[in-house]
Amino acid sequence: MHENATPDLATTPPHERAAAAAADGPPALRFPFDATALTETPISTERLVLRPLEASDAPDVFEYQRIPDVLKYLPWPLRDRAEAYEHTAKRAAARVLADDGDFFVLAMTLPGTPSVDDSAADASAVAASAAAAVRDRVIGDMMVRVSSAKHAQLELGWVVHPDFQGKGYAREAAVAIRDFAFETLHPHRIQAFLDARNAASAALCERLGMRREATILEEQYNDGEWQDTALYGLLRREWAAARG
Ligand SMILES: CC(C)(COP(=O)(O)OP(=O)(O)OC[C@H]1O[C@@H](n2cnc3c(N)ncnc32)[C@H](O)[C@@H]1OP(=O)(O)O)[C@@H](O)C(=O)NCCC(=O)NCCS
Repeated sequence: MHENATPDLATTPPHERAAAAAADGPPALRFPFDATALTETPISTERLVLRPLEASDAPDVFEYQRIPDVLKYLPWPLRDRAEAYEHTAKRAAARVLADDGDFFVLAMTLPGTPSVDDSAADASAVAASAAAAVRDRVIGDMMVRVSSAKHAQLELGWVVHPDFQGKGYAREAAVAIRDFAFETLHPHRIQAFLDARNAASAALCERLGMRREATILEEQYNDGEWQDTALYGLLRREWAAARG
Protein backbone atom coordinates (compact mmCIF):
# COMPACT_ATOMS: atom_id res chain seq x y z
CA MET A 1 0.00 0.00 0.00
CA HIS A 2 1.28 3.47 -0.83
CA GLU A 3 2.15 5.72 2.08
CA ASN A 4 -0.36 8.50 2.67
CA ALA A 5 -2.97 6.83 0.45
CA THR A 6 -6.19 8.79 0.96
CA PRO A 7 -9.14 6.72 -0.24
CA ASP A 8 -12.16 8.94 -0.94
CA LEU A 9 -14.88 6.47 0.03
CA ALA A 10 -15.97 8.79 2.83
CA THR A 11 -17.41 11.17 0.26
CA THR A 12 -18.95 8.46 -1.93
CA PRO A 13 -22.75 8.22 -1.46
CA PRO A 14 -23.76 4.97 0.28
CA HIS A 15 -25.79 3.73 -2.72
CA GLU A 16 -22.67 3.99 -4.89
CA ARG A 17 -20.74 1.89 -2.38
CA ALA A 18 -23.47 -0.70 -1.95
CA ALA A 19 -22.56 -2.97 -4.86
CA ALA A 20 -18.88 -3.10 -3.92
CA ALA A 21 -19.76 -3.69 -0.28
CA ALA A 22 -22.12 -6.51 -1.24
CA ALA A 23 -19.44 -8.06 -3.42
CA ASP A 24 -17.22 -8.31 -0.35
CA GLY A 25 -19.67 -10.81 1.07
CA PRO A 26 -20.84 -11.28 4.67
CA PRO A 27 -18.54 -11.16 7.73
CA ALA A 28 -16.02 -13.99 7.52
CA LEU A 29 -13.50 -13.72 10.36
CA ARG A 30 -11.32 -16.80 10.59
CA PHE A 31 -11.90 -17.40 14.29
CA PRO A 32 -10.91 -18.70 16.70
CA PHE A 33 -7.32 -17.60 16.19
CA ASP A 34 -4.56 -18.41 18.68
CA ALA A 35 -1.60 -16.03 18.35
CA THR A 36 0.63 -18.55 20.12
CA ALA A 37 1.19 -20.00 16.63
CA LEU A 38 3.31 -16.90 15.93
CA THR A 39 5.85 -17.97 18.55
CA GLU A 40 7.08 -20.68 16.19
CA THR A 41 6.54 -18.68 13.00
CA PRO A 42 6.98 -14.99 13.90
CA ILE A 43 6.34 -12.18 11.44
CA SER A 44 9.63 -10.84 10.07
CA THR A 45 9.92 -7.37 8.57
CA GLU A 46 12.97 -5.66 7.11
CA ARG A 47 14.39 -4.79 10.55
CA LEU A 48 12.07 -6.38 13.13
CA VAL A 49 10.74 -9.70 14.33
CA LEU A 50 7.16 -9.65 15.67
CA ARG A 51 6.19 -12.46 18.02
CA PRO A 52 3.70 -12.87 20.87
CA LEU A 53 4.48 -10.79 23.95
CA GLU A 54 5.72 -12.89 26.87
CA ALA A 55 5.66 -12.22 30.62
CA SER A 56 9.47 -12.31 30.59
CA ASP A 57 9.46 -9.25 28.28
CA ALA A 58 8.36 -7.15 31.28
CA PRO A 59 11.77 -5.46 31.84
CA ASP A 60 11.85 -4.20 28.23
CA VAL A 61 8.20 -3.13 28.30
CA PHE A 62 8.73 -1.30 31.60
CA GLU A 63 11.43 0.80 29.88
CA TYR A 64 8.69 2.50 27.84
CA GLN A 65 5.71 1.96 30.14
CA ARG A 66 7.36 4.00 32.91
CA ILE A 67 7.77 7.14 30.77
CA PRO A 68 4.95 9.66 31.38
CA ASP A 69 5.25 11.05 27.83
CA VAL A 70 4.55 7.59 26.40
CA LEU A 71 1.42 7.30 28.55
CA LYS A 72 0.12 10.75 27.62
CA TYR A 73 -2.33 9.41 25.05
CA LEU A 74 -2.59 5.80 26.27
CA PRO A 75 -5.33 4.64 28.67
CA TRP A 76 -2.60 3.30 30.98
CA PRO A 77 -1.90 4.67 34.47
CA LEU A 78 1.69 5.23 35.53
CA ARG A 79 2.58 1.89 37.17
CA ASP A 80 5.45 0.98 39.45
CA ARG A 81 7.70 -1.90 38.41
CA ALA A 82 5.68 -4.63 40.15
CA GLU A 83 2.37 -3.34 38.75
CA ALA A 84 3.87 -2.99 35.28
CA TYR A 85 5.26 -6.53 35.32
CA GLU A 86 1.84 -7.85 36.34
CA HIS A 87 0.22 -5.83 33.55
CA THR A 88 2.65 -7.26 30.98
CA ALA A 89 1.97 -10.79 32.25
CA LYS A 90 -1.77 -10.25 31.74
CA ARG A 91 -1.31 -8.83 28.25
CA ALA A 92 1.05 -11.69 27.37
CA ALA A 93 -1.52 -14.27 28.48
CA ALA A 94 -4.16 -12.88 26.09
CA ARG A 95 -3.68 -14.92 22.94
CA VAL A 96 -6.98 -16.20 21.52
CA LEU A 97 -9.37 -14.17 19.35
CA ALA A 98 -12.93 -15.48 19.39
CA ASP A 99 -15.26 -12.87 20.89
CA ASP A 100 -15.62 -9.11 21.21
CA GLY A 101 -12.88 -7.61 23.37
CA ASP A 102 -10.44 -10.50 22.86
CA PHE A 103 -6.94 -9.34 21.95
CA PHE A 104 -3.34 -10.38 21.51
CA VAL A 105 -0.14 -8.38 21.67
CA LEU A 106 2.91 -8.82 19.50
CA ALA A 107 6.32 -7.73 20.78
CA MET A 108 8.40 -5.70 18.32
CA THR A 109 11.88 -7.18 18.76
CA LEU A 110 14.99 -5.64 17.26
CA PRO A 111 17.54 -8.33 16.38
CA GLY A 112 21.05 -7.48 17.53
CA THR A 113 19.89 -5.13 20.31
CA PRO A 114 19.98 -6.91 23.69
CA SER A 115 17.13 -6.81 26.22
CA VAL A 116 17.53 -4.55 29.23
CA ASP A 117 18.92 -6.12 32.39
CA ASP A 118 16.67 -5.40 35.38
CA SER A 119 18.53 -7.49 37.95
CA ALA A 120 19.96 -4.41 39.68
CA ALA A 121 16.51 -2.82 39.99
CA ASP A 122 14.69 -5.97 41.06
CA ALA A 123 16.62 -8.67 42.89
CA SER A 124 13.73 -11.09 42.41
CA ALA A 125 14.03 -10.81 38.65
CA VAL A 126 17.07 -13.06 38.27
CA ALA A 127 15.27 -15.49 36.01
CA ALA A 128 13.88 -12.73 33.81
CA SER A 129 17.26 -11.05 33.44
CA ALA A 130 18.98 -14.35 32.69
CA ALA A 131 16.48 -14.89 29.89
CA ALA A 132 16.88 -11.29 28.78
CA ALA A 133 20.64 -11.70 28.34
CA VAL A 134 20.13 -13.93 25.33
CA ARG A 135 17.11 -12.16 23.91
CA ASP A 136 16.53 -9.35 21.48
CA ARG A 137 15.11 -6.17 22.93
CA VAL A 138 11.39 -5.46 22.79
CA ILE A 139 11.25 -1.85 21.54
CA GLY A 140 7.45 -1.60 21.43
CA ASP A 141 4.32 -3.63 20.93
CA MET A 142 1.34 -3.92 18.63
CA MET A 143 -2.15 -5.03 19.66
CA VAL A 144 -4.96 -6.59 17.66
CA ARG A 145 -8.37 -6.51 19.37
CA VAL A 146 -11.80 -7.74 18.31
CA SER A 147 -14.15 -4.75 18.08
CA SER A 148 -16.98 -6.83 16.70
CA ALA A 149 -16.81 -10.52 15.84
CA LYS A 150 -20.33 -10.35 14.40
CA HIS A 151 -19.42 -7.57 11.98
CA ALA A 152 -15.79 -8.63 11.36
CA GLN A 153 -14.22 -5.45 12.74
CA LEU A 154 -10.74 -5.45 14.29
CA GLU A 155 -8.87 -2.73 16.14
CA LEU A 156 -5.13 -2.06 16.02
CA GLY A 157 -3.09 -0.33 18.72
CA TRP A 158 0.63 0.49 19.18
CA VAL A 159 3.32 1.84 21.43
CA VAL A 160 7.05 2.28 20.79
CA HIS A 161 9.88 3.27 23.16
CA PRO A 162 10.82 6.93 22.48
CA ASP A 163 14.44 5.94 21.74
CA PHE A 164 13.10 3.99 18.77
CA GLN A 165 10.46 6.45 17.55
CA GLY A 166 11.01 8.57 14.44
CA LYS A 167 12.84 5.72 12.71
CA GLY A 168 9.94 4.08 10.92
CA TYR A 169 9.81 1.03 13.21
CA ALA A 170 6.17 1.64 14.16
CA ARG A 171 5.21 1.99 10.50
CA GLU A 172 7.17 -1.16 9.58
CA ALA A 173 5.50 -3.24 12.30
CA ALA A 174 2.03 -1.76 11.79
CA VAL A 175 2.13 -2.40 8.03
CA ALA A 176 3.04 -6.03 8.76
CA ILE A 177 0.26 -6.39 11.34
CA ARG A 178 -2.26 -4.72 9.04
CA ASP A 179 -1.36 -7.14 6.23
CA PHE A 180 -1.28 -10.12 8.57
CA ALA A 181 -4.70 -9.18 9.95
CA PHE A 182 -6.33 -8.83 6.53
CA GLU A 183 -4.68 -11.95 5.11
CA THR A 184 -5.00 -14.31 8.06
CA LEU A 185 -7.95 -13.09 10.15
CA HIS A 186 -10.03 -11.73 7.28
CA PRO A 187 -11.76 -8.69 8.82
CA HIS A 188 -14.09 -6.56 6.72
CA ARG A 189 -12.53 -3.45 8.25
CA ILE A 190 -9.75 -2.44 10.63
CA GLN A 191 -9.85 0.62 12.85
CA ALA A 192 -7.87 2.60 15.39
CA PHE A 193 -9.07 4.89 18.16
CA LEU A 194 -6.76 7.62 19.36
CA ASP A 195 -6.72 10.75 21.45
CA ALA A 196 -7.49 13.40 18.86
CA ARG A 197 -4.33 15.31 19.92
CA ASN A 198 -2.07 12.32 19.21
CA ALA A 199 -0.47 13.60 16.01
CA ALA A 200 2.18 10.84 15.84
CA SER A 201 -0.46 8.11 16.02
CA ALA A 202 -2.67 9.91 13.48
CA ALA A 203 0.30 10.16 11.09
CA LEU A 204 0.92 6.44 11.54
CA CYS A 205 -2.74 5.68 10.70
CA GLU A 206 -2.40 7.73 7.54
CA ARG A 207 0.84 5.95 6.59
CA LEU A 208 -1.19 2.74 6.84
CA GLY A 209 -3.72 4.11 4.36
CA MET A 210 -6.37 4.57 7.04
CA ARG A 211 -8.95 7.33 6.74
CA ARG A 212 -10.02 9.66 9.53
CA GLU A 213 -13.68 8.80 9.79
CA ALA A 214 -14.70 10.72 12.87
CA THR A 215 -13.70 12.95 15.69
CA ILE A 216 -15.82 11.92 18.64
CA LEU A 217 -16.16 14.89 20.97
CA GLU A 218 -15.55 14.40 24.69
CA GLU A 219 -15.68 10.62 24.38
CA GLN A 220 -13.36 9.86 27.32
CA TYR A 221 -12.65 11.31 30.73
CA ASN A 222 -8.99 10.77 31.58
CA ASP A 223 -6.53 12.59 33.83
CA GLY A 224 -9.22 14.98 35.02
CA GLU A 225 -10.43 16.16 31.63
CA TRP A 226 -12.81 15.29 28.80
CA GLN A 227 -10.91 14.17 25.72
CA ASP A 228 -11.83 13.94 22.06
CA THR A 229 -11.22 10.66 20.23
CA ALA A 230 -10.19 10.30 16.58
CA LEU A 231 -11.42 7.24 14.71
CA TYR A 232 -9.47 5.90 11.73
CA GLY A 233 -10.61 3.05 9.49
CA LEU A 234 -9.68 1.03 6.42
CA LEU A 235 -11.91 -1.37 4.50
CA ARG A 236 -10.65 -4.70 3.31
CA ARG A 237 -11.32 -3.83 -0.34
CA GLU A 238 -9.43 -0.53 -0.03
CA TRP A 239 -6.44 -2.40 1.37
CA ALA A 240 -6.67 -4.98 -1.41
CA ALA A 241 -7.01 -2.33 -4.13
CA ALA A 242 -4.04 -0.33 -2.84
CA ARG A 243 -1.88 -3.47 -2.90
CA GLY A 244 -2.87 -4.10 -6.49
C1 LIG B 1 2.33 6.42 17.84
C2 LIG B 1 3.78 5.99 17.72
C3 LIG B 1 3.87 4.47 17.80
C4 LIG B 1 4.34 6.46 16.36
O1 LIG B 1 5.72 6.15 16.31
P1 LIG B 1 6.68 6.83 15.17
O2 LIG B 1 8.04 6.35 15.42
O3 LIG B 1 6.44 8.30 15.16
O4 LIG B 1 6.06 6.25 13.83
P2 LIG B 1 6.78 5.74 12.51
O5 LIG B 1 7.44 4.45 12.70
O6 LIG B 1 5.73 5.82 11.46
O7 LIG B 1 7.94 6.78 12.28
C5 LIG B 1 7.74 7.85 11.41
C6 LIG B 1 8.88 8.83 11.51
O8 LIG B 1 10.12 8.15 11.33
C7 LIG B 1 10.83 8.75 10.24
N1 LIG B 1 11.72 7.71 9.67
C8 LIG B 1 13.05 7.65 9.88
N2 LIG B 1 13.57 6.58 9.28
C9 LIG B 1 12.53 5.93 8.67
C10 LIG B 1 12.46 4.76 7.88
N3 LIG B 1 13.52 4.00 7.63
N4 LIG B 1 11.24 4.39 7.41
C11 LIG B 1 10.14 5.14 7.66
N5 LIG B 1 10.17 6.28 8.41
C12 LIG B 1 11.37 6.67 8.91
C13 LIG B 1 9.75 9.29 9.36
O9 LIG B 1 10.24 10.30 8.50
C14 LIG B 1 8.78 9.85 10.38
O10 LIG B 1 9.28 11.07 10.89
P3 LIG B 1 8.30 12.29 11.23
O11 LIG B 1 7.43 11.80 12.36
O12 LIG B 1 9.23 13.37 11.61
O13 LIG B 1 7.50 12.53 9.98
C15 LIG B 1 4.64 6.62 18.84
O14 LIG B 1 4.52 8.02 18.77
C16 LIG B 1 4.25 6.17 20.24
O15 LIG B 1 4.60 5.08 20.67
N6 LIG B 1 3.55 7.03 21.02
C17 LIG B 1 3.26 6.74 22.41
C18 LIG B 1 2.17 5.70 22.57
C19 LIG B 1 0.89 6.09 21.86
O16 LIG B 1 0.45 7.23 21.94
N7 LIG B 1 0.30 5.12 21.16
C20 LIG B 1 -0.89 5.32 20.38
C21 LIG B 1 -2.10 5.26 21.17
S1 LIG B 1 -3.51 5.42 20.10
